[in-house]
Amino acid sequence: MLTPLVLSGGSGTRLWPVSRRNLPKQFLCLKGERTLFQQTVARARRLPDAAAPIVVASEDHRFLAAEQLQEAGVADAAIVLEPLARNTAPAIALGALEALARDAEALLLVLPADHLITRPQAFADAVARALPSAREGWLVTFGIRPDRPETGFGYIRRGAAIGEGVYRVERFVEKPDLATARGYLADGGYDWNSGMFLFRAARYLEELGQHAPAMLEAVRAAHAQARRDLDFIRIDKDAFARVPEDSIDYAVMEKTARAAVVPVDCGWSDIGSWSALWQAGERDAQGNLREGDTLAIDTHDCLLRSHEHHLIAAVGVRDLVVVGTPDATLVAHRDAAQEVKRIVDELKSRG
Ligand code: GDD
Ligand code: MG
Repeated sequence: MLTPLVLSGGSGTRLWPVSRRNLPKQFLCLKGERTLFQQTVARARRLPDAAAPIVVASEDHRFLAAEQLQEAGVADAAIVLEPLARNTAPAIALGALEALARDAEALLLVLPADHLITRPQAFADAVARALPSAREGWLVTFGIRPDRPETGFGYIRRGAAIGEGVYRVERFVEKPDLATARGYLADGGYDWNSGMFLFRAARYLEELGQHAPAMLEAVRAAHAQARRDLDFIRIDKDAFARVPEDSIDYAVMEKTARAAVVPVDCGWSDIGSWSALWQAGERDAQGNLREGDTLAIDTHDCLLRSHEHHLIAAVGVRDLVVVGTPDATLVAHRDAAQEVKRIVDELKSRG
């Protein structure tokens, strides 16, 4: 069975002030009428032979997740609640254990809840291409053609073909520095890791057992103690606090010898920052992405987003991000979009 595993535990700090601790970006309508989370679940639900999805989310967002699932018409999802964030490797392990409890042969399709895919059919075709290799025990990634030396992504060096449109991964490098990323782009043989994966749940746990045995053991213990009620699968805080923190990319994908990649061209973007949203959005002739009540004169390549009837008016500027909310306004250079996180850190330290 193909079990979609939706990762929804991120906090989306680079999209402040719209994305907040209580309402992070995956639960917002940043593009389209549905939230990114709802779009992700619906996309997964429409895949042929997909089983009921498993959502792994923060305990703080349990009602948001449950309500948004209901609103999206997905009634059969299991919601696993993390009492604290331990990054993606443990979150996926929780999902894998949950899927295995239902089906020993479960195939997990790991999907971050905050990605945009504009061509879902191309994505579905890529999943179909990946299935045979995943069944054979490969950990399959979905590769995106890079168009810039982005340092926030993982890079995959494509090796020999192992199936129709499926290649062995020669090397997986998570978040290289800028000089290295530039080299990979020039080389031409590297794809971005989309952060979506397909593998047998049992194979993932096996790899975790090899490369991060303490993590696997701690996640198993936490999962065994989970409290279940009608709505949620609740992970115990003390047990989960013992789980070491790491991402799947560092903990498993950089280390495994059985990684494969399926290149896919599905209009993918990780809406990680305001500049990414600007990139992915429909800009006007001046290159501005505008939402809400805005006025732009001699203004180019800006993202202007107003809140309700609060007018944002710009004149004679370029490459700016201006985002208004009822209690905070962000003004940033588009090139500093990654640094918005620092504002959030500063605000946190102020308490
Ligand atoms: N449940 C849960 N718990 N989900 C989490 C946690 C957690 O502790 N931490 C992150 N997530 C979710 C996020 O909400 C997001 O949907 C997804 O897991 C990936 O986490 P990110 O923190 O956004 O990772 P990243 O963007 O820095 O890097 C990953 O994605 C890139 C592509 O977008 C890596 O896989 C990169 O290699 C990849 O290129
Ligand atoms: Mg991300």
